[in-house]
Amino acid sequence: MTLEFTLTRNAEPVADDVRAGVLAEPGFGKHFTDHMVSIDWTADGGWHDARIEPYGPLQMDPASAVLHYGQEIFEGMKAYRRDDGSVWTFRPDQNAKRLQRSAARLALPQLPEELFLEAIRRLVEVDEAWVPDGGEDSLYLRPFMIANEVFLGVRAAQTVRFMVIASPAGPYFAGGVKPVSIWLSREYNRAGKGGTGAAKCGGNYAASLLPTQLAVANGCAQVLFLNEEGTDLEELGGMNVVLVKADGTLITPDSDTILDGVTRNSLLQLAADEGHAVERRPVTLAEWRDGVADGTITEAFACGTAAVLTPIAALRSPDETIGDPDAPAGPVALALRKALTDIQYGRAEDPHGWMVQLTGAR
Ligand code: COI
Repeated sequence: MTLEFTLTRNAEPVADDVRAGVLAEPGFGKHFTDHMVSIDWTADGGWHDARIEPYGPLQMDPASAVLHYGQEIFEGMKAYRRDDGSVWTFRPDQNAKRLQRSAARLALPQLPEELFLEAIRRLVEVDEAWVPDGGEDSLYLRPFMIANEVFLGVRAAQTVRFMVIASPAGPYFAGGVKPVSIWLSREYNRAGKGGTGAAKCGGNYAASLLPTQLAVANGCAQVLFLNEEGTDLEELGGMNVVLVKADGTLITPDSDTILDGVTRNSLLQLAADEGHAVERRPVTLAEWRDGVADGTITEAFACGTAAVLTPIAALRSPDETIGDPDAPAGPVALALRKALTDIQYGRAEDPHGWMVQLTGAR
């Protein structure tokens, strides 16, 4: 399914010198481009009115369902500029499909994959000047879908909007690739069986905020959640977790209550290509603790679109510290990070055909 997109250009785009200042030091999630995409959906009329408009505040009725019951889903993806000036994105089909799975769980409508891809393409075309070049900066794309029916009854909304906004981005963690310490959440869970843990919905991230405050208060960058039983690793507040064994095996939790990370899947594929064994299975906290103690687990890392791959130096809780908070980044994590980012920035072959070109060379 395709729709005609209308374009209303921003009559007051950010001045070139101001944009250049932002691109020189983008931070994460603080600055937004000149335009945004909106596509509306109604139960009667389906998807319609696809448009690119000046970026700006939404006028929203205070009774809009999303404000009350959190019927919302989102995605995170990036546009990367290559040395020749062209702009590419990474496995957008995976994000489109995951948005569909999230929509199914949150009783939101299915957005056709072609429409998702077209929305991304059109926004990056019109805001191409906002894609940073050099280094590991990128244009972070945030597609999302909200229930905007004006109705306080608790049922799936009959009026929905899909939007895409874009934000130039540097490293998610202020220290870049510097290894981080992670706080173990004993008191709070992120998701339960049959819940929304596998969906990328705002509520999962809202649930992580208080535990993340505790993590930060304890000098950690992120929080790690366990399963309901308190035995198995799940994921961090906003990214997946992977352990590395001394023999090169990568282990990552397999659970239907965590996010099916595109970055994680891709890193594991690249690791397998390099001959690493990869195990997706329940991973216990005890296995991490014992493995670090006896030297069979040598590295751990967090991964996600925003975080890319960030080494985990240590897992901390009031009772124990697993690992060494001052440990340097491990060689497996660094090699995988390089392999992935080299593909994303066009510095290496793309053997799996993951990259999709959005704009031409300059
Ligand atoms: C991403 O990695 O893109 C995420 O969505 C995680 C976080 C920034 C919310």
